[in-house]
Amino acid sequence: MLRNPTLLLAYAAAARAWSTFIVPHADGVDDTPALMAAVSNYASDASIVFQANTTYNVWSPITFPPLTNVEVRVEGNLTYPTSIETVQGYVGAANYSGAWIAFTGGNNVTLRGNTDPDWGWVDGHGQQWWDLVQQVNRPYGWLFGNITNGVIQNMKIYKPIAWNWLTTGSDNVHIFNNTILAGSDNASFPFNTDGFSAGGTNLLFERNHVVNGDDCLTVINGAKNITWRDSYCEGSHGLSIGSLGKGGQDSSVENVLFENVIMNHTLYAARFKSWTGGNGAATNVTWRNIMFIDVPFPIYVTQNYWDQNVGPRPNSSSTNETHIENFLFENFVGVVNDTPGYVEGSCVSDPCWFYVPGATGKEVVIFDLYPATATNIVAKNIFARTETGAPVAAMCNSTTISSDVGFVCWDGPYIPTALGL
Ligand SMILES: *[C@@H]1O[C@H](CO)[C@@H](O)[C@H](O)[C@H]1NC(C)=O
Ligand SMILES: *[C@@H]1O[C@H](CO)[C@@H](O)[C@H](O)[C@H]1NC(C)=O
Ligand SMILES: *[C@@H]1O[C@H](CO)[C@@H](O)[C@H](O)[C@H]1NC(C)=O
Ligand SMILES: *[C@@H]1O[C@H](CO)[C@@H](O)[C@H](O)[C@H]1NC(C)=O
Ligand SMILES: *[C@@H]1O[C@H](CO)[C@@H](O)[C@H](O)[C@H]1NC(C)=O
Ligand SMILES: *[C@@H]1O[C@H](CO)[C@@H](O)[C@H](O)[C@H]1NC(C)=O
Ligand SMILES: *[C@@H]1O[C@H](CO)[C@@H](O)[C@H](O)[C@H]1NC(C)=O
Ligand SMILES: *[C@@H]1O[C@H](CO)[C@@H](O)[C@H](O)[C@H]1NC(C)=O
Ligand SMILES: *[C@@H]1O[C@H](CO)[C@@H](O)[C@H](O)[C@H]1NC(C)=O
Ligand SMILES: *[C@@H]1O[C@H](CO)[C@@H](O)[C@H](O)[C@H]1NC(C)=O
Ligand SMILES: *[C@@H]1O[C@H](CO)[C@@H](O)[C@H](O)[C@H]1NC(C)=O
Ligand SMILES: *[C@@H]1O[C@H](CO)[C@@H](O)[C@H](O)[C@H]1NC(C)=O
Repeated sequence: MLRNPTLLLAYAAAARAWSTFIVPHADGVDDTPALMAAVSNYASDASIVFQANTTYNVWSPITFPPLTNVEVRVEGNLTYPTSIETVQGYVGAANYSGAWIAFTGGNNVTLRGNTDPDWGWVDGHGQQWWDLVQQVNRPYGWLFGNITNGVIQNMKIYKPIAWNWLTTGSDNVHIFNNTILAGSDNASFPFNTDGFSAGGTNLLFERNHVVNGDDCLTVINGAKNITWRDSYCEGSHGLSIGSLGKGGQDSSVENVLFENVIMNHTLYAARFKSWTGGNGAATNVTWRNIMFIDVPFPIYVTQNYWDQNVGPRPNSSSTNETHIENFLFENFVGVVNDTPGYVEGSCVSDPCWFYVPGATGKEVVIFDLYPATATNIVAKNIFARTETGAPVAAMCNSTTISSDVGFVCWDGPYIPTALGL
């Protein structure tokens, strides 16, 4: 019998009390072990706070256990080891989780940065890696894996070593107002500094600011219902789907919308890449309201992606390809970088990995397709000029398509059809 319901309620509330853990910091030592020793006590109904006015030494990887109703606040700065060998040692170890900071699952997890411009930065000391072209045992920055109902907000990354955010296996995550600054101080190229890899379902990315040296966003196998909008990408390799179908993999990407994005000095703006001989399909993908500034390949679709390091472009007409269904490129405006002799910094081979045989450099759109594997792919309302003032071109092989693509499908001047206007 309940003789004192008020007291009982008080006990119930206490049982689900919120706790706050201020991550301890000590000068000159790795702060990860103290966090790891305590974190299991704060895996539910808790705030884990890297406090302001503190620079935390994240000198070894952090792996969070599955979390429920937890917010992690990065209010202070986080710094990676400055020793390349130290980082490589952890990344090369058998128990490496796959990212320098890994979230391994849970429900209702928020990761929040600091809006104070001086604090909340995560410094990867990437410049020294770029200067040395050091590409052995590089860490992924952040894994936000297997989280249902999550938020990543106001996070700020400075000079990451390589790849930044990965959301594999996560569902219903809002990723907004984050900053990545992976620009190099000199001509050393920030290789593989991909911004966001969108694995998972029901992901909304908005108001993110990315300066980097690989894909700004890439949507990967298994992704469904992904929106990326109201954002800025500089120096990147575009708003990408893929690569899909490597080694014949059966891939699936569905319902993706990219809209209201500025692509500034990027190599590509909108891009699809699948490997020769892949299987599966990418279905219902729209890129719209894209401004591109100084971009060599504004719209680029290839079902014949390959690795520059392993020899010439493969020949294949007998294998299957990753199918393309219902792709729309709409409302693009900007300037094609057709500066003669322009070479983007990631080019380390001759010809470059992004070289397109037969292209003139004036193309606003290139569809490099296999026959009978792309249906309903359309580009419309495309307004472009070239930097040199030469006429804008298109590249498209009419034997590979079965319906109007919105422009005359040939290797020649870009001429919209009625559908493309
Ligand atoms: C951080 O330092 C500033 C300036 O000294 C101070 O105003 C602020 O209260 C400090 N914040 C915290 C959380 O200690
Ligand atoms: C989800 O986590 C937040 C803290 O980030 C918390 O305020 C909220 O109560 C949690 N939601 C539920 C349903 O527990
Ligand atoms: C990984 O292995 C190393 C060496 O065996 C050990 O010192 C370290 O604590 C392990 N780390 C984790 C996160 O288990
Ligand atoms: C996510 O869950 C899958 C399936 O259980 C598992 O294979 C994978 O390792 C998990 N990923 C992470 C980051 O925990
Ligand atoms: C978004 O991030 C910027 C830069 O960190 C910050 O100045 C701004 O206050 C943030 N906006 C919101 C709504 O949090
Ligand atoms: C925090 O880190 C950023 C990036 O490294 C740096 O610019 C900033 O000065 C740091 N803040 C403080 C207060 O040291
Ligand atoms: C960039 O600067 C670093 C340090 O001064 C130097 O070692 C490196 O060679 C430079 N890279 C290029 C491509 O100029
Ligand atoms: C798609 O994802 C968004 C963002 O997470 C969500 O609000 C929306 O309900 C999802 N749409 C469908 C059809 O599931
Ligand atoms: C196509 O994707 C968009 C954006 O994700 C979505 O709103 C729409 O419902 C999808 N269309 C179909 C037919 O699934
Ligand atoms: C494009 O980037 C350059 C620096 O590379 C910058 O000066 C310019 O303001 C940017 N343009 C826009 C529209 O953001
Ligand atoms: C090629 O892939 C598509 C899409 O997955 C599939 O429907 C078709 O059966 C495959 N064709 C062959 C010959 O494997
Ligand atoms: C056009 O595509 C067909 C079918 O794949 C191919 O045989 C032909 O060589 C292509 N033409 C050009 C100019 O690439």
